[in-house]
Amino acid sequence: MDENVKLEAKGIYKEFDEENPITILRDVSFVAKKQEFVSFVGPSGCGKTTLFNIIAGLLEPTGGNIYIDSEQTTGTVSSQIGYVLQKDLLLPWRTIEENVILGLEVRGMKKSEAKDRATEYFKSYKLDGYQKKYPSELSGGMKQRVALMRTMIMEPEIILMDEAYKALDYPLKIDLESELLSTVKENKKTVIYITHDIEEAVTLSDRVYIMKARPGEIVREMEIDLGVDSTRMNERRASKKFNDYYETIWQSMGTSK
Ligand SMILES: Nc1ncnc2c1ncn2[C@@H]1O[C@H](COP(=O)(O)OP(=O)(O)OP(=O)(O)O)[C@@H](O)[C@H]1O
Ligand SMILES: [Mg+2]
Repeated sequence: MDENVKLEAKGIYKEFDEENPITILRDVSFVAKKQEFVSFVGPSGCGKTTLFNIIAGLLEPTGGNIYIDSEQTTGTVSSQIGYVLQKDLLLPWRTIEENVILGLEVRGMKKSEAKDRATEYFKSYKLDGYQKKYPSELSGGMKQRVALMRTMIMEPEIILMDEAYKALDYPLKIDLESELLSTVKENKKTVIYITHDIEEAVTLSDRVYIMKARPGEIVREMEIDLGVDSTRMNERRASKKFNDYYETIWQSMGTSK
């Protein structure tokens, strides 16, 4: 197998309901190379979250396998994966700091040590001073940052993000996406990202997989190279190539319904 590949899905099938099986995912195969930003776009119900749950090892596929660094990991939860869920809720009874260190505590790290490690994260995620607050005291954007911080502090090699910025207003979304891109590039992470938003997919990704629904299948794979080094969304969007990519994905989605 190609040693540049970080994660690979081969021939994934998923059926729910054993008596009347409905095929949710049909023969889904893809790769995410090391340090690549890969996005999935597709209509609601095409199986994106189901695919992520399979990648994360939370759900067994009916057929096919997942490989991380060429090793088969199907159905097992890998410590290499950090997962920002579609509905990523913070625990309301824990402070922000306690929410952030939850995963480290579960892993058996001492609370004081975990808090020490969290200090630098609070600084770089611009949330220093909010450690003792509760989730209800933070804005939506801040809570999203906390959710991402909680994932990043575990230092996963691969980050799965399921529509993490969907509910945010536009300027904030642009800001957080720019931050995300510079953070993952700096820390050399592999990202697999779900979005409904074609603009977002083109701006963030090195590669996009376009899915259709019923059954969920990949209809097209597209390499993206905007020719822009900046991680700022507005600068990336200004690329002359942006519209062509946008249009091609739009058409692939339109003809796939
Ligand atoms: N546990 C389950 N049992 C039966 N059907 C399920 C189960 N989980 C998901 N499904 C079905 O699988 C299909 C795909 O769902 P999934 O949540 O993966 O889609 P999605 O692409 O993430 O949609 P959205 O964009 O709305 O988040 C849907 O038709 C859903 O109803
Ligand atoms: Mg979903």
